[in-house]
Amino acid sequence: MSATWSLPTRVKVVEVGPRDGLQNESTVIPTATKLALIQRLAEAGLRHIEATAFVSPRWVPQMADHDAVMRAVPRLPGVTYSALTPNLQGFEAALAAGAQEVAVFGSASEAFSQKNINCSIAQGLVRFEAVLEAARRAGIPVRGYVSCVLGCPYQGEVTPEAVAAVAGALFEMGCHEISLGDTIGVGTPLKTRRMLEAVSRHVEVSRLAGHYHDTYGQALANVLASLQHGVAVFDSSVAGLGGCPYAAGASGNLASEDLTYLLHGLGIETGIDLQALAQAGRFISDVLGRPTRSKAGQALLA
Ligand code: HMG
Ligand code: MG
Repeated sequence: MSATWSLPTRVKVVEVGPRDGLQNESTVIPTATKLALIQRLAEAGLRHIEATAFVSPRWVPQMADHDAVMRAVPRLPGVTYSALTPNLQGFEAALAAGAQEVAVFGSASEAFSQKNINCSIAQGLVRFEAVLEAARRAGIPVRGYVSCVLGCPYQGEVTPEAVAAVAGALFEMGCHEISLGDTIGVGTPLKTRRMLEAVSRHVEVSRLAGHYHDTYGQALANVLASLQHGVAVFDSSVAGLGGCPYAAGASGNLASEDLTYLLHGLGIETGIDLQALAQAGRFISDVLGRPTRSKAGQALLA
């Protein structure tokens, strides 16, 4: 516990680089490269890795090799591999390929829901119920994402109450963790706090995760505001890879290296070897032929 702030002593980091990070790349990343990245992330101490998405290859071609990726991830003790599953079809494929956890993904914005999963918020929740039911029978934990929690690329403002309603619905249907996505990275700490206050009236803070994109350089500030609110789970992407193909402006997730540097600097345990993580960031940045977006990654490897 910090002397001046009441912050969590340990944080769970969910590495979303292989999925959220790579889903938006314009060049095709070979399956073997994705697996080599995942291996490095696991060796760096990441214990929760979102490996791929069992979505339609017509919608997201970069995730078309979901089956091959999930079947070949390095099965190391203590490492959980999860995947996005928008519907029962995706869930069944993820289960068959060996996913240990899945995630359904809704939105607080009606417009984004239509663009991203081709249905309304309410229709999405009905599909997710079916996933939850099948997952319960199979003993697979389900995470629930809410996108556009601090703004939408299509409709602009999103109210904290709209976020709370979807987060509450996902939690009630059995999602064990609700990840709150600032999909286009427009949030600031005050907005983040107001959103968390509204959501935590419906979902216990211990069940919430922050998923911040860094478009305006606000992601770490939003993490700090969330830590102060008691949030102890954060999603991030190695080298700051990422974006969403259905959200122009979702340019880069919070970099895992930057998040880890902040957390360690606050005396918060993560179990992550930051130097090894930075090397993983360099590996994928070299493959993509551009410098890492992580400031900490750049400094550590200079
Ligand atoms: P649809 O076209 O409405 O689906 O897409 P449909 O049920 O009408 O089926 C049409 C075809 O898709 C059929 O094939 C199905 O088999 C196939 P056909 O008979 O025409 O050959 N299909 C599937 N194929 C593979 N896997 C599936 C699947 N389901 C149907 N699971 C659908 C609806 C949801 C499938 C589509 O809209 C989709 O795949 N969307 C995914 C979009 C996506 O992945 N977006 C990025 C992730 S979300 C994100 O990044 C935000 C987040 O990071 C949080 C944040 O940052 O805020 C999570
Ligand atoms: Mg995202």
